[in-house]
Amino acid sequence: MKGLILAGGSGRRLRPLTYTGAKQLLPVANKPIIFYGIKALVKAGIQELGIVVGETAKEVQYIVGNGEKWNIKISYIPQKAPLGLAHAIKISKEFLGDEPFIMYLGDNILKEGIEDFVHQFENNKPNALILLTKVPNPQEFGVAVVDENGAVKQLIEKPKEPPSNLALVGVYLFDSQVFTAIEKIKPSRRNELEITDAIQWLLDNRFSVEAHMVKGWWKDTGKPDDIIEANLLVLENIEAVNKSSQKDSEISGRVRAEQGSVIEKSVVRGPVIIGKNSKIIGSYIGPFSSIGNNVIIENSEIENSVIMDGAQIKNVEKRIDRSIIGKDVVINVTTKSPRTHKFILGDQSYVQIIK
Ligand code: DAU
Repeated sequence: MKGLILAGGSGRRLRPLTYTGAKQLLPVANKPIIFYGIKALVKAGIQELGIVVGETAKEVQYIVGNGEKWNIKISYIPQKAPLGLAHAIKISKEFLGDEPFIMYLGDNILKEGIEDFVHQFENNKPNALILLTKVPNPQEFGVAVVDENGAVKQLIEKPKEPPSNLALVGVYLFDSQVFTAIEKIKPSRRNELEITDAIQWLLDNRFSVEAHMVKGWWKDTGKPDDIIEANLLVLENIEAVNKSSQKDSEISGRVRAEQGSVIEKSVVRGPVIIGKNSKIIGSYIGPFSSIGNNVIIENSEIENSVIMDGAQIKNVEKRIDRSIIGKDVVINVTTKSPRTHKFILGDQSYVQIIK
């Protein structure tokens, strides 16, 4: 069985973080989000993977590479515009051939592996297998209606008035009938060929569609708060491996600090991950923080946050909480005159200052 990861799209809801990069490459616990999907597919036995890429193709290829990292073969499939998940499958036909395949959305992270779903698909051989989970905000997802026996009755993409609280998780298994369905459907109101419509077509035409309920947590990292939440969920399970050099510091809980990192006169309370060559001086790093590589944090307090490579945070008096700080961003509080705020912020940056 081949795998297909979707890593095109625009990342509009994650601006400004995605002005300079692909949303699937944003870090969660210091690893690009897409790596979680690749790992899950590899664990399920996938050896040939296609990645659909859009305008951030170069960057995705540079970070992900040809598959050597995971001992698999990765090919890239360019999509000229984000015309929908079903469109992404359509343009991958040559790569996928007539064999069944797994599609994994590159911005999704699931706690549990996908082996169980693959087994269900292989044993029952439905035309499509979808994954579902209960959510409090179904209007933001594809939504499924299932009957009391768990049979799928209806699927609707982002309905204003959701008929159930069961969201479609971004992992799907299909056989080649999906190509027939995609040929039959029309673009939606948002001008996308929706995979939800293709699966509804399968249902309407008496093909078999099974559902599998996801047990562990699942995150679609579409918005900034989702990244913070996914980071928290992943950090809950990290292993403590402390390779940092420490002086006059108090470190407790599970802390993973990489080679070359320095912790001085600081308090670090895990779960926390600190990347290579980062310096934590006179600071507090609280639970659920991911600090990237080459970061400097001086005389500041951070909690529940994602701080990306090369960022510098100095002398910030109030605790920084539930924040995402992009690559090479500098936040510095000085005592120099004149006593003014100075901001050099890109489009759609967000700053909150408490009086
Ligand atoms: O995350 C689960 C949800 O994913 C489902 O509940 C929805 O039914 C499904 O339509 C999808 O909704 P989103 O609005 O979250 O999809 P998004 O546009 O974020 O795209 C998902 C991934 O696929 C993302 O990594 C970008 C990529 N993509 C998207 C489009 C539209 C492509 O590679 N090509 C595309 O044309």
